[in-house]
Amino acid sequence: MSLSVNLLDPAIMGNDSSMYELFGQLRENDPVALVEHPDFEPFWAITKHEDIKAISQNNAEFLNNPRTVLIQREFEEALLSQFGTRNGLETLIHMDNPKHRKLRNVTRNWFKPAPIDELSADIRAIATEYVDKMANMDGKCDFVKDIALLYPLRVIMSIIGVAPEEEAMMLKLTQELFGGQDPTQSRGVNIDDGLAVLMDFFSYFTGVVEDRKENPTDDLASVLANALIDGEPMEQLDQISYFIITATAGHDTTSATISGGMKALLEHPDQLLKLRENPGLSMQAAREMIRWVSPVRHMMRTTTKDIELRGKTIKAGDSLCLWYPSANRDSDAIEDPDTFNIERDNRNQMAFGFGGHMCLGQHLAVLETALFFEELLPRLEHIELAADPDWVQAIFVGGLKSMPVRYTFR
Ligand code: HEM
Repeated sequence: MSLSVNLLDPAIMGNDSSMYELFGQLRENDPVALVEHPDFEPFWAITKHEDIKAISQNNAEFLNNPRTVLIQREFEEALLSQFGTRNGLETLIHMDNPKHRKLRNVTRNWFKPAPIDELSADIRAIATEYVDKMANMDGKCDFVKDIALLYPLRVIMSIIGVAPEEEAMMLKLTQELFGGQDPTQSRGVNIDDGLAVLMDFFSYFTGVVEDRKENPTDDLASVLANALIDGEPMEQLDQISYFIITATAGHDTTSATISGGMKALLEHPDQLLKLRENPGLSMQAAREMIRWVSPVRHMMRTTTKDIELRGKTIKAGDSLCLWYPSANRDSDAIEDPDTFNIERDNRNQMAFGFGGHMCLGQHLAVLETALFFEELLPRLEHIELAADPDWVQAIFVGGLKSMPVRYTFR
């Protein structure tokens, strides 16, 4: 059996060392690999930085629809019959132009660095809250479950306008959506369980839209509830799916970055020390954590024409899967990629994707990661692992599931 089929094994992909070993082998031996597996429609696995960048920036010939992420064939068929598309509910990442551009424009300005920077004081206050929580936990906690999962959730929910009392429910739903292959996080093994998760998102956000139409505030929910597309109100399904993409993309990824970033600092005490002594490096360090963790493992594109890539013939209509963590460890594009270096110039990294779909929340992600470590490190005297970390078994958004730590505060 071909090595590339291991890309579909959540146990291999849900652990940094086995995942990066697999990517290294693929980049070396089969960088454009056809993956055939009984449970999935075939696809081409793209693992070189150069190819991923070129495909991502050509949005006219490499489409996000109809296949945006890897979903088991059986589930894709269920989505097709329920929603009329293999992607199910279509969010920004599932759309192509011209619709994609029009919908992205609704929040494009909201997520630009200047307006996001204006939220710094509020985000820092939430960071302080979680660092205080850690300080009050008797010198031990599960850094993932007690801190890293909750802080970004509070940030994105406050930006969207979700009330604090609804957050626990949103966290559970997001984990059920992204951790679907992890038996401890999915709602159930049946297709109906997955569809029920989507329906729960739908019913919650329908209520939010109704409320903000009546009572607009300055939150993102009000922007979405009252947005006009070509002079007409945004369709309700588009509004709901917009909520889902911001709520989900906006927190699991950053959680994984903060916990994976903490783990990287634990494993590289010189970098931890450097960051503590030079808080001005925090944004650069956050970018390095994002490269190092690359929590979004893949996105897919469908080619509109026959192409030749590294000696392989790819036919119009074939799907290509872009593996971002692999791009970020490709030594042809990134110098000394297996070294964690918080002073690295990370302009060429691929964790946020590239081109027309490049992550809308990237500045927010960097800022909230930076602010958290700015608040934590000066107060932390010592920190170490208290038990082996555990990983989420997932092939889409991955990261740590648990990381018990022992520490002392100053
Ligand atoms: C470290 C954290 C994050 C990482 C690694 C990440 C990564 C990504 C990636 C790889 C894509 C797809 C890019 C492509 O197809 O070229 C994406 C899209 C997106 N991300 Fe993020 N993301 C992060 C945080 C956030 C945050 C905090 C938000 C806030 C709402 C967010 C919102 C979005 C949205 C809305 C899209 C869809 C953009 C589109 O299709 O036009 N992300 N992100």
